[in-house]
Amino acid sequence: MGAGIAQVSAQAGFETLGREVSDELCERARGTIEHYLGRAVEKGKLTAEERDAALGRLTLTTELGDLADCDLVIEAIVEELEPKRETFAELERVVGPDAILASNTSAIPIAKIAEATEHPERVIGMHFFNPAPVLPLVEIIRAEKSSDEALDAAYEWAEQAGKQPVRANDTPGFIVNRVLVPTLNECIRLLDEGITPEDLDKAMTMGVGWPMGPCALVDLVGVDIHIHAAEAMYEATGDERAKPPERLREMAAAGRLGRKTGHGFYSYD
Ligand code: 3HC
Repeated sequence: MGAGIAQVSAQAGFETLGREVSDELCERARGTIEHYLGRAVEKGKLTAEERDAALGRLTLTTELGDLADCDLVIEAIVEELEPKRETFAELERVVGPDAILASNTSAIPIAKIAEATEHPERVIGMHFFNPAPVLPLVEIIRAEKSSDEALDAAYEWAEQAGKQPVRANDTPGFIVNRVLVPTLNECIRLLDEGITPEDLDKAMTMGVGWPMGPCALVDLVGVDIHIHAAEAMYEATGDERAKPPERLREMAAAGRLGRKTGHGFYSYD
């Protein structure tokens, strides 16, 4: 999702620095962004000049230290608490005193990430939806110690970036995943009763008007990401509906993580 968020930022006119862990992943992120901006030009939604200007505002780096001058950092690393806490503690040593540190986590409590910092008032959640350049929503999440200034600035940034922000509390799953994660789990459990992924997806797109079916959506989001979100919610609430279905764990163990690995419920080129 980091590439998608960087695309949103650069396209909206902000100088944008994306940090990846290797040169290869930097190249892949740039390639993805170039691909989607190129498609927008082909469809007449963007001029070639606008595409070039957006790409000109985008720099990629592998060094966290290069983020020193950023006013807003949006973290989208692995969905695990400890690496996030380490990253935020390190970020705080790198950025200026007024910089806002936001996490794009799907379901990890923002307050637990903020605890790793000396200034938790600057830590908030900014939760984008996949694909970030397409889905308008951004949940702006207030943790226990988040300051009004940080929340207001993030809300304003999201609006300037052409997004539709909403204010959410630091409760398990925030707003959307609180509803979506148990719903998707329930859909996946239907497969244990002999329903096929094709029929399940057809039912939810044709019968309820979902833009894509639940199996296609889990493939898009990533089986591993869905499991992490579900586990975080189950841990926090004990709600059986949030517990990741066994079928998803088996898929993850077999490396079938969805679109990113070429296989999930469906196969992808
Ligand atoms: N990056 C940038 N742009 C992308 C993109 C990506 N990864 N994927 C698709 N697009 C663009 C395409 O370029 C296209 O643009 P255009 O309309 O200007 O041509 C547009 O999106 C539509 O794409 P397609 O024509 O390829 O396909 P569809 O019309 O079938 O739309 C979809 C695909 C946008 C994914 C649509 O099916 C959809 O909105 N699905 C629902 C997705 C959803 O629910 N996301 C939320 C997941 S939950 C989440 O993220 C939370 C997390 O915490 C788990």
